[in-house]
Amino acid sequence: MAILLNEEKNLFTLLTDHTMYQMKADEWGVLLHTYYGKRTAVCDYSYLISYENHGFSGNPYEVGDDRAYSLDTLPQEYPSYGSGDYRESALKVRFGDGTTACELRYEGYEIQKGKYGLPGLPAVYAEADTKADTLIMHLKDITGQVRVSLIYGVLENLDMITRSVKVENIGERPLTLERVLSTSVDFLQDGYDMQTFYGRHAKERIPQRMPLGHGMQVVGSTRGTSSHQFNPFFILCEERAGEEQGSCYGFSFLYSGDFYGAASVDQMDQTRVVLGIHPDNFGWLLEAGESFQAPEAAMIYSDGGFGLLSRRYHKAYRNNLCRGKFKKARRPVLLNSWEGVYFDFNGDKLVQMAKEAAELGVELFVMDDGWFGKRESDTSSLGDWTVNEEKLGCTLAELSEKIHELGMQFGIWFEPECISEESALYREHPDWALQVPGKRPGRSRYQLVLDFSRADVRDHIYAQMCEVLDYAQIEYLKWDFNRSISDIYSAVLPASRQGEVAHRYVLGLYDLLERLNSRYPDMMIEGCSGGGGRFDAGMLYYTPQIWCSDDTDAIERLTIQYGTSFGYPVSAVGSHVSKCPNEQTGRMTPLETRATVAMAGTFGYELDVNQMAPEEKEAVKGQIQEFRKYYDLIQDGDYYRLTDPMHNKGLHAWEFAAEDGSEALVCAVALQIHPNGPGFWLKLRGLDADAWYEMDGKRYLGAALMEGGIPVPGPRVEYESFRMHFIREKNA
Ligand code: GLA
Repeated sequence: MAILLNEEKNLFTLLTDHTMYQMKADEWGVLLHTYYGKRTAVCDYSYLISYENHGFSGNPYEVGDDRAYSLDTLPQEYPSYGSGDYRESALKVRFGDGTTACELRYEGYEIQKGKYGLPGLPAVYAEADTKADTLIMHLKDITGQVRVSLIYGVLENLDMITRSVKVENIGERPLTLERVLSTSVDFLQDGYDMQTFYGRHAKERIPQRMPLGHGMQVVGSTRGTSSHQFNPFFILCEERAGEEQGSCYGFSFLYSGDFYGAASVDQMDQTRVVLGIHPDNFGWLLEAGESFQAPEAAMIYSDGGFGLLSRRYHKAYRNNLCRGKFKKARRPVLLNSWEGVYFDFNGDKLVQMAKEAAELGVELFVMDDGWFGKRESDTSSLGDWTVNEEKLGCTLAELSEKIHELGMQFGIWFEPECISEESALYREHPDWALQVPGKRPGRSRYQLVLDFSRADVRDHIYAQMCEVLDYAQIEYLKWDFNRSISDIYSAVLPASRQGEVAHRYVLGLYDLLERLNSRYPDMMIEGCSGGGGRFDAGMLYYTPQIWCSDDTDAIERLTIQYGTSFGYPVSAVGSHVSKCPNEQTGRMTPLETRATVAMAGTFGYELDVNQMAPEEKEAVKGQIQEFRKYYDLIQDGDYYRLTDPMHNKGLHAWEFAAEDGSEALVCAVALQIHPNGPGFWLKLRGLDADAWYEMDGKRYLGAALMEGGIPVPGPRVEYESFRMHFIREKNA
């Protein structure tokens, strides 16, 4: 059992293989947070808390004259607004009488075998080999109007603690939830750094590490999606933490809409971290008897630096978050039509592309944007999901058949959440687009957003999609979303419920994805939002891979994929070889380098193969064979960041090592070359120290490769790349 109770002391200890989390309901019923970190023998960590009289930090009435007891300074498990804790709160309730003072007290607990699930929301789940339990802590506000259930999933062998919260209106009057964050963790001290992942379209998830000072460091999104700009994953770490050493805590939100993540340091130099739905766009009306379920946050602690933290997330998300056939089944090497031909195609042109690609070993042909309605540019037709047979020169079934005759699978692009004003759907249902009464909605990429909080709107889009998907053989769907949401208002909800629209929209998105996944279990859905604008753990529950960025330049991708790797597995990272000069940057890079970089992901191509020179085609054949050979190692192996591309300008390298140490693939890209410059050495990771490894006919001792390293072969030309495969000798 991963949950240990000391009923006499009301002490609850959650144990994973290497980590430990503890809370305690004190004599006043306040649920205190007492420990999160490395697993130790179980003891009551509340001895660490000091009680002192601090000026202007008031005291709850029931403690009487004890001026040393203040919620303003105590470490709490779920701080609420208006309780006398003036720091950041996780919960804010506006009661029926307009007041907001809410003080929560412990009522009792429940333990359930296995990991809880959350209906309609993504959640980490236990597999047969996962040891998992659920703890639910019931709290009630002292006026008896709300019950708050804190839900903890303890996934022992994943070293993960998940949290969610359910709030019930147990009073007689309606109330509004103005803030319900999913997790809050208090640390007794300061001295932490916060590493966040910021960016923009075509430049996502750049790591930024900042020491926390007094006050607050906040990341978040109010764009309706998790966003390119900030990712709903961040790390809190001690100052000395690095890739391989030191304590760090990961906070990951399994949610694809507005989020809010913050770390603050208070007057007593204590640190508080919170993560949940962004309160700015949120207000949830609860009638008497109703409840609200917050999404899940997943936390991991590592005492072995960022590397170990990432590998723990990778494993958990790969095996216990992604679902469906393609979690395990080998995913096909694809060719996507977008950068090759954009909107400029017909059926014959696509078949010609596919034919060439099939000869090179590509297994899946994806027809991207431009196949439906009257879509010849991005100005029209979103919402009209009918095949443009005139453009294709055939039906979709016929096109798919031709692709299948080549021995390939077939996939198509959709953008189900959006609507063009230039579309039959808009002419018929202008009110289906999100828009605020009395104001024209903001456009982005010429398009508006459908009100996915509405079941009738979703049903209509679903029916149109099924019409297409049922009619032709389609093994892959790219689900795109190409703008941020604005003008949040739903025509079918009363004024008192407009604060619910943004979250209901995300629930609607999940509903449609769930329906498609269960109706088409053999079809893989790849997520996308202008590249990586919705690259989050919530989406991974529905789409096992996500197009990582619209920037396909191999050198740019080094940083984007590096940043992404902190919180997400390589198996989730959609990555393609595209043409040169690169469409986004104009940069020239060797074809081999583009392949090396794309191999740190799902691997595919996005160019017009018909335009390639014969020797390039030969090279592509070899790359595909090589990727197939390394497939398991890349997708399921342990991922090591060997360098940091933002600070190591000369060479960037990473490694995939089999969990059992039997083989490793080291990849490196030369970034800046100086004539007559010094050499490069890379120290490998994850090998068997005592075993011998073979690479290119030479033998190396595992320990030597890890302690001494391996010289990176010359000659070194800018952007040249290297792939070095080490295999453990059998008789080792
Ligand atoms: C987005 C995607 C691209 C492509 C285009 C099509 O930008 O990220 O990969 O599908 O839309 O319009």
